[in-house]
Amino acid sequence: MNSEKAFLNIEDLVVEYVSGGKTVHAVNGVTFDLEKGKTLGLVGETGAGKTTIAKAILRLLPEPQATVKNGRIMLDGDDLLTFPETKMRNVRGNVVTMVFQDPMTALNPIMKVGDQIAEVIKKHQKLENKTSRELAQEMLEMVGIPSARYDEYPHQFSGGMKQRVVIAMALACNPQLLLADEPTTALDVTIQAQVLDMMEDLKNKYNTAMILITHDLGVVGRMCDDVAVIYAGEVLEYGTRKEIFLNPCHPYTIGLFGAIPDLSVSTRRLANIEGLPPDPTNLPEGCCFSPRCSYATDECRKNKPSLQKINDDHLCRCPLAEQIRSGKNGGEV
Ligand SMILES: Nc1ncnc2c1ncn2[C@@H]1O[C@H](COP(=O)(O)OP(=O)(O)O)[C@@H](O)[C@H]1O
Ligand SMILES: [Mg+2]
Repeated sequence: MNSEKAFLNIEDLVVEYVSGGKTVHAVNGVTFDLEKGKTLGLVGETGAGKTTIAKAILRLLPEPQATVKNGRIMLDGDDLLTFPETKMRNVRGNVVTMVFQDPMTALNPIMKVGDQIAEVIKKHQKLENKTSRELAQEMLEMVGIPSARYDEYPHQFSGGMKQRVVIAMALACNPQLLLADEPTTALDVTIQAQVLDMMEDLKNKYNTAMILITHDLGVVGRMCDDVAVIYAGEVLEYGTRKEIFLNPCHPYTIGLFGAIPDLSVSTRRLANIEGLPPDPTNLPEGCCFSPRCSYATDECRKNKPSLQKINDDHLCRCPLAEQIRSGKNGGEV
């Protein structure tokens, strides 16, 4: 984090949807960066704007409902938001790939699963002395699917198997940036571990930058170098994994993470916090978390706090961060 020369720099991104005559403020001034070979975790409750951020990077937001109102998405020095669609098409699948929550969006229902992987391999990898079919079979085995199922169609696969195929296809592209939107949520624990291993191998081998959207703190702890905590379309806390896990300063992060005493225990999901996120068509004045925050003051309810530097590895959008960090409030929310 905090690198002007990072591979990806997102600056002050604002995205709105118009739905049923109302404006949904989905992403409200998000800034972060990512270096090659690093993984950034985006965490936060459903509706926080995580998927919208990922889709904005790939310029896959639904039109005409969604509009990018502000911001820059600098990838390797170029602002993707200024690219014509023809140039974007070359970025998608070659430079940046995304694994969506729903695997069916990425699979062709009338094409054999193995052939779909082989096609990606042919396009993106040197075959050396193997055929694309052989490499696709290896890839199937690598994600835990017997290569004998090469000639089957997506509908013959379970949801988890389809997601593994999609991940294999995304990895076969050798992207420079991989956007993974809750990629392992649908998988059982053993397969999840295998897939994460595979993603990590790729990251190391090709120095891939990765944005990993997940609800699983075990996955964050294992995979991510940096973490951004997203709430109501804003970054509330952002820092290295170590800072966010060991010294969370925002009452929201403490609510999500702090309630979990030990990462090795089975409760690795984000904790439930009392109350609901704000209505994105009618955001509160001041701090967006203030309606749920037991520390909130009148000042918090009036003025939106800025993202303040705690140290070189840590930013937090809460005026009480220092106090909370030093344990004055006992770390309870
Ligand atoms: N196509 C759409 N039209 C209108 N609102 C949308 C659309 N897609 C997402 N939203 C809204 O934008 C907000 C952010 O959604 P999303 O990015 O999917 O969050 P997350 O991935 O963190 O769960 C939510 O309030 C959601 O209801
Ligand atoms: Mg989502």
